[in-house]
Amino acid sequence: ELRGVVALDGPSGTGKSTVARKLAMQLGARYLDTGAMYRAATVAVLRAGVDPADADRVRYAVAHADLKVTTDPRAQATTLDGTDVSAEIRSQEVTTAVSPVSAVAEVRAQLVAQQRSIIAKALAEVGGIVVEGRDIGTVVVPDAALKVYLTADAQARAERRTRQDAAAGRQATVDATLADVRRRDTYDSTRAVSPAKAAEDAVELDTTHLDLAGVLAELMAMVEDRG
Ligand code: C5P
Repeated sequence: ELRGVVALDGPSGTGKSTVARKLAMQLGARYLDTGAMYRAATVAVLRAGVDPADADRVRYAVAHADLKVTTDPRAQATTLDGTDVSAEIRSQEVTTAVSPVSAVAEVRAQLVAQQRSIIAKALAEVGGIVVEGRDIGTVVVPDAALKVYLTADAQARAERRTRQDAAAGRQATVDATLADVRRRDTYDSTRAVSPAKAAEDAVELDTTHLDLAGVLAELMAMVEDRG
């Protein structure tokens, strides 16, 4: 059983979301996908007809959006202003627009505050939560019990993402996905506010040659080590 927070950070295509959810299930813990929150904020921006590059209007649109995420690892749902956007947040349009939206300082401040209150509630209720994102170990929960930074070759990540997209019925080629993965890596890791990076005290885990069960086994061993 997990006491406290496991912070799981890293770029897209490392298998982070699947692994984080399974880890939470195995530990009887809650699960928070912070990327889903930035994606839902992006849906709010697009629905308002706002250009994702227009920081002032982005900030305003997100401040007036009602975002909700569930923390049950078996029942993931994201809602925006009362409607379920769980599928829409994975669309190509949202994936393209999410990086500039999440680079806006006020958007991050708003979502980080909301994430901290969701985490506090989960800890009070069940004692443990696995939180995944880009800045969990560095900004959201700097005192997390365990911080892991997942990495993998860009090519391997693009192949994983393409398989996931195909399984979900979204057309994509490895080349286009690789270009998207590289674009978002650069954008997310070079932005001025909370650039995506490993915390100094994070354990790095390269998943290039590991399958889901392999990554899960490594993480379970780390949790047991810390417990
Ligand atoms: O994890 P996912 O790929 O769904 O995240 C989508 C985008 O949300 C990332 O590319 C990044 O721009 C942003 N993000 C972030 N901070 C987080 C989680 C996601 O900036 N903690």
